[in-house]
Amino acid sequence: MTDLNQLQTQSLSHVAGLSDLNDLEETRVKLLGKSGEITSLLQKIGQLPPEERKTFGQEVNVVKNAVQNALESKKTELEAAALNAKLASEKADVTLPPLPMAEGKLHPISAVIEELGDIMRRLGYSHATGPELETDFYNFTALNIPPEHPARQDHDTFYLEKAEGDDETSPILMRTQTSNAQIHTMQSVEPPFRMISLGRVYRCDSDMTHTPQFHQMEGMAIDKNIHFGHLKGTLQRFLEDFFEKKIEMRLRPAYFPFVEPGAEVDIRWDYIDARGEKKSRWLELLGSGMVHRNVLKSGGIDPEKWQGFAFGAGVERLCMVKYGINDLRMFFESHAQFLKHFGKNPAFRRN
Ligand code: PHE
Repeated sequence: MTDLNQLQTQSLSHVAGLSDLNDLEETRVKLLGKSGEITSLLQKIGQLPPEERKTFGQEVNVVKNAVQNALESKKTELEAAALNAKLASEKADVTLPPLPMAEGKLHPISAVIEELGDIMRRLGYSHATGPELETDFYNFTALNIPPEHPARQDHDTFYLEKAEGDDETSPILMRTQTSNAQIHTMQSVEPPFRMISLGRVYRCDSDMTHTPQFHQMEGMAIDKNIHFGHLKGTLQRFLEDFFEKKIEMRLRPAYFPFVEPGAEVDIRWDYIDARGEKKSRWLELLGSGMVHRNVLKSGGIDPEKWQGFAFGAGVERLCMVKYGINDLRMFFESHAQFLKHFGKNPAFRRN
């Protein structure tokens, strides 16, 4: 066996026995690198007598190619094995139970606001707004509550200090009711129309059943020949859609300066008392009435041609009754357990 044959046999069997990519690279450098064994053989060609150069050169190249091929296929083999080992060790077990995902809920008040909007939209009411910082005119005077009217005392109003250079004659306040939206809508929309306005209102009052900020829904319908029956039918339909059951309703005469006649709306409520006995009582729910002619006039609407009804409901109150929440302050304290229990999954939003 010539030296060259021996070199080839030894090299190939060495390569065949390798199992590590680093060792493989080391072997490559030793044989085919700049000063590798086979490379130096090729460099030696120049020193041979001319008649031997060709054959020797050919023979060395055969060895070089054989070793190069063996190194390359070994490399592919070892790389594939390394990849397989990595895949095997990093395999995901798809049968493991998933980690619980923290999921947010819609605050019950936000959920009820959306629900109320949906119900009224289906009854043909469009959404209107009024500013939360309002003039005394829109919050009171235009609603038939002139200065010195005793009804102003019922609303514990937050007034703003007059800014220097402010030439607004009507004092600025935080609106105490969404009824201001009645006037803004009448001034900007041609009758006939039906609108609701859902938003924040403010009263300087804080105890078990009052918070300085809460929400109301105002409703108003203006058309020709609107009468009390329309109001009653609308309220019945609205309440049954909201509570999702048959509702026994009662209209009790009440005084609100901006309606005539006015009525407080009660519903019959079944409940179970502390002794576990089934009970039933009337629950006061909202205020309503036929729009006062003075209010129509403030809104620029001719009371001889148009009539209408209006109602106003507290959103927190509606939410408490529907979901059996008995402390108003729960809404504002942001306890995770409360929100988790009474919050609504946003995936069930209807819009
Ligand atoms: N604005 C009244 C309140 O805050 C409710 C109401 C609205 C009553 C519309 C009658 C008509 O109590």
